[in-house]
Amino acid sequence: MSTYSEDKRKVTTHRLWEMKERGEKITMLTAYDYSMAKIIDQAGIDAILVGDSASNTMVGNATTLPMTIDQMIYHAKSVVNATTRALVMVDMPFGTCSGNPIKSLESAIRIMQETGADALKIEGGKEIKEDVKKIIDAGIPVMSHLGLMPQSINKYGTYTVRAKEEKEAQKLIDDCLLMEELGCFAITLEKIPATLATEITQKVKIPIIGIGAGGGVDGQVLVIHDMMGINKDFSPKFLRRYADLFSIMTEATQHYIKDVKEKNFPNSSESY
Ligand code: KIV
Repeated sequence: MSTYSEDKRKVTTHRLWEMKERGEKITMLTAYDYSMAKIIDQAGIDAILVGDSASNTMVGNATTLPMTIDQMIYHAKSVVNATTRALVMVDMPFGTCSGNPIKSLESAIRIMQETGADALKIEGGKEIKEDVKKIIDAGIPVMSHLGLMPQSINKYGTYTVRAKEEKEAQKLIDDCLLMEELGCFAITLEKIPATLATEITQKVKIPIIGIGAGGGVDGQVLVIHDMMGINKDFSPKFLRRYADLFSIMTEATQHYIKDVKEKNFPNSSESY
């Protein structure tokens, strides 16, 4: 167990606020399946995001848009089954929270009931404020996701850094303040200038978790396939690779192929 997580109590939204208050950085990774979630939970990660990036990492789609509620529920249930300590949150997939609060709440309740997750993450600002309010008012914790919002890729047309211009930066600040006011327990800020992310982190009381938002935020999140080096096709500037599992797994696979072909596996002690 990591020295930072000797406290084995379940991580809650309240504990994330306490971390912000005492200046302890919050750690978060994505996971989409039981085995991976078990590793990172036991390693001491604070929060696990069942991201709709499953669309890219698990299915091989170019965008996150094809993910359905049923697919998110399948992945989230697998992660919840493996997790004892980390706070587990689930992405509301594209189209499930977009201007119809009653329908959004129904989808949110379904995800919470069928997965046993602790919270939801929702992409979008003031345009979906009624949806976010309805879900929070029903007692469901929500993390807002602002800055680069991959579900809106067809609107942006590019995955480049957001909020570099004054007007977009001001809208982002306003959206963060609004999300805090609505009762979101945290905000993810993706791919925005570090100075802006730091300014927002100081302006709001709730934790800001960054991905490509610099070191001045309250915590960091990365996609597990990227940081573990399972997916080597994606190399944005903000990504640090902590392992090269692609090479390790390739070598292991080649070793296995060789052993079977050369009749070295199984041997007598591996047989009944
Ligand atoms: O779906 C996802 O993995 C995410 C992270 C990039 C924050 O939203």
